[in-house]
Amino acid sequence: MSYRLIVAADSGELGSRAADLLAEALAARPDAVLGLPTGRTPVSSYAELTRRSTQGGIDLTRAVAFALDEWLGVSPDHPATNAAFFRRHLSVPLAALHLMRSDADDPAAECAAFQSLLRESGGLDLALLGIGLNGHLAFNEPGSGFDSRCRGIDLAETTRRAHASEFGGLAATPRRGLTLGLADIMEARQALLLASGPGKAAVLARALCGPLTEDLPASILQRHPALVVVADRAAAAELPRRAA
Ligand code: GLP
Repeated sequence: MSYRLIVAADSGELGSRAADLLAEALAARPDAVLGLPTGRTPVSSYAELTRRSTQGGIDLTRAVAFALDEWLGVSPDHPATNAAFFRRHLSVPLAALHLMRSDADDPAAECAAFQSLLRESGGLDLALLGIGLNGHLAFNEPGSGFDSRCRGIDLAETTRRAHASEFGGLAATPRRGLTLGLADIMEARQALLLASGPGKAAVLARALCGPLTEDLPASILQRHPALVVVADRAAAAELPRRAA
């Protein structure tokens, strides 16, 4: 396998390097289709995109974005939905930002519609990705098939715990989510994996250098032909110095 590794000094530099890569992708294809994650990791990237967009340094007005996942069984008014996250952190005019509905009555129909929309858009040009503590990608928890598509999924306890404070405690944290599948993510023409902080060092090294296994969904990225990893020093600490 091979991937390009960019090590940033800190989360701020990570955001700026990620924005550089997005700007390159948009220069090549102004109407690019982007897959966008939530979480703490991409916040500095979205802040930088917002800053550059406001100052005229980057133009996303022709780009189409798909949120990679959403909580299920939550009112759309709840501040912890991914929809609310994007309203807070990404103040950038886009041609469209597509999200799955957190209050979908029929999750299978919601996913089928989202999957069709993605197909009609030509699939992802660039998937921006974070990695969960248990190696999840979007909400593809351990055990997700490498051939998985958009679907409803039971969330792992680690994932729920990691986000419990946003929902006011574990009991109120949703048990299910909606997510694009690993196959949808792998079809992206470019994958850009972000990782920040010491808590991600071990899982990032296992994902990139350990066995390819559905027990660690992000390990599928070892098969991606155009993977760029942007990690801050703390998250990159357990990676081999030179990506092979
Ligand atoms: C959530 C999201 C993922 C994200 C992960 C990591 O579970 N569904 O898309 O990658 O959190 O979040 P953080 O960046 O906060 O560690």
